[in-house]
Amino acid sequence: MIVLETDRLVLRRLTLNDAPFIVELLTDPAFLRYIGDRGVRDQQSARQYLLKGPIASYEKFGFGLYFVFLKESGDPVGICGLLKRDTLSDVDVGFAFLPAHRRKGYATESAAAVLAHGRSTLGLKRVVAITSPDNEGSIAVLEKIGLRFEGMTRLGDDPREVRLFGIDL
Ligand SMILES: CC(C)(COP(=O)(O)OP(=O)(O)OC[C@H]1O[C@@H](n2cnc3c(N)ncnc32)[C@H](O)[C@@H]1OP(=O)(O)O)[C@@H](O)C(=O)NCCC(=O)NCCS
Repeated sequence: MIVLETDRLVLRRLTLNDAPFIVELLTDPAFLRYIGDRGVRDQQSARQYLLKGPIASYEKFGFGLYFVFLKESGDPVGICGLLKRDTLSDVDVGFAFLPAHRRKGYATESAAAVLAHGRSTLGLKRVVAITSPDNEGSIAVLEKIGLRFEGMTRLGDDPREVRLFGIDL
């Protein structure tokens, strides 16, 4: 199910068939460092992640993280979308791209489209984002799409501080 198209990218819902791609993305060292260990090691754990994460989110909220691929070649490049976490009162935008497809503007292009979709289709009034304090790439993307740094916070029981960004739509 296609959700959004931009100049270069298509965003569609993730399915269980994306398990091999999810293994590649979620075991990438930058994903593990900046986002965390989601317990994905192989196709079976990737299918569990997909079921309990993005697919459950589509069913519960009507949105979630989407699979991002190149319009021209069909190559998978990353994930980008909206999340509703128990630990945050607002909906947050999230993204991660494969190493070979970073620094090409894909995170900015897809996240900007996701924000516009949140405002116009989902009727969201505010979107936030959280990053590790030192995630320069993510911070640059968030600022480019209009989010502003609002302060440091902690999520749930996690003792680590994260940066909170936000935008009123
Ligand atoms: C963070 C991440 C999503 C950025 O994706 P991307 O597609 O490379 O970002 P873009 O190409 O849209 O870059 C946007 C801006 O950020 C800058 N940028 C990107 N990566 C950067 C980095 N590692 N350090 C400093 N600046 C960076 C770019 O230079 C660009 O600015 P410019 O247009 O002025 O040149 C990507 O590096 C990634 O997937 N990292 C691992 C997962 C992750 O950290 N996700 C975010 C969790 S909050």
